[in-house]
Amino acid sequence: MKTAIHGKNIVLGVCGGIAAYKSVELLRLLKKQEANVRVIMTQNAREFVGPMTFEALSGLPVCSDIFERGADASIRHIEWAEEADAVVIAPATANIIGKFANGIADDALSTFMLAVTSRQILCPSMNANMYLSNAVQRNLEILRSDGYFIVEPGSGDLACGTTGPGRLPEPEEIADRILYSFTKKDMNGKKILVTAGPTREHSDPVRFISNPSSGKMGYAIAKAAEHRGGEVILVTGPTNLAPPSHITVVSVKSAKEMAQAVFDNMENSHIVIKTAAVADYRPKEMADQKVKKGTDDEKVLHLEKNQDILKELGRRKQDQILVGFAAETEKLEKHAGKKLAEKNLDIIAGNLVSRPDSGFGTDTNQVTLFYRNGTKEALPVMEKDAVAHILLDRVAGLKS
Ligand code: CTP
Repeated sequence: MKTAIHGKNIVLGVCGGIAAYKSVELLRLLKKQEANVRVIMTQNAREFVGPMTFEALSGLPVCSDIFERGADASIRHIEWAEEADAVVIAPATANIIGKFANGIADDALSTFMLAVTSRQILCPSMNANMYLSNAVQRNLEILRSDGYFIVEPGSGDLACGTTGPGRLPEPEEIADRILYSFTKKDMNGKKILVTAGPTREHSDPVRFISNPSSGKMGYAIAKAAEHRGGEVILVTGPTNLAPPSHITVVSVKSAKEMAQAVFDNMENSHIVIKTAAVADYRPKEMADQKVKKGTDDEKVLHLEKNQDILKELGRRKQDQILVGFAAETEKLEKHAGKKLAEKNLDIIAGNLVSRPDSGFGTDTNQVTLFYRNGTKEALPVMEKDAVAHILLDRVAGLKS
């Protein structure tokens, strides 16, 4: 899928820290999104990871010499600074942070940085006491006010044996923040409530009724909305997905719990997107202990109806934008249209879950958007991340 960093020129600055190995994976993730990545290493960084690794993955020579010359005899670091769409320093040591904050240019990376006019993303990584020291905090404050985007370090056990803030975030998290910095912020100030995943309706502590929803579509929408500046609450049923960062995640199991979490947050939301595959029925009885097999060859499970959460939202709707999903195996237009009307929605995204490239568990989806005014828009099969952005484009369009 083409993300916002597709085809962008990104310079990855690597400093000498234990976490330098993580920037190898970061480079791989950026290349996967087809960014053009050039690497500048400090001399100290070369003690931790060899330049050949970065050269093999980026397909370009690594720069670590201030006097190195480019193809047209221009000084390479100035050439790169002019062409960069973003510069990412990971890991950024206390030393380089001090140099950047004070305009010191005494090696390739610090000299390059002074010539950069594009966005600068800094990922500090060091011993917790160093990170919390007055000097480093003061320098970071200067860089923040200079417009640097600082990716906050994680907390925990550090390689040096101390515990506290200073750990370089995982490469996926840094790549996510780079994508964030490139995404248009058309949802700034908007509160967006998203539901995702299946619900589980237990009949006893170890048995439940559910469905194969993976949560991927809802998580993709929540992440896309956060990247676009939205304040996102994700109410999620049980999934195998990592909780997305910078999003308030409310984990629920049953439809009843999901209903409560959604109603608690509906009034404050501007946009509600209900991607969750909510179970329509739950077992009438919930046994406290595991039900034993017994001698019966057949058994009947009595079910009672769950509340239709989205229908209730439609009833309570004031000026919120309400979006639903319709998972169908046939007659998409007829069924989705009926749900759009009955649940008082602005948009319903219908998909045929029987297709192999669409619906439950897949990374792609083929969705048709049905609008309140009776129009529809069939989207091609695409990555769920791409579907998420198109859906949010349409939601943003409704507002204007
Ligand atoms: N939904 C809900 N609460 C329920 C059932 C569904 O909020 N108890 C929401 C889903 O999150 C989705 C939309 O309603 O956004 C449509 O869900 P779907 O399962 O496709 O349809 P149902 O309304 O349950 O109807 P049916 O099962 O008959 O297709």
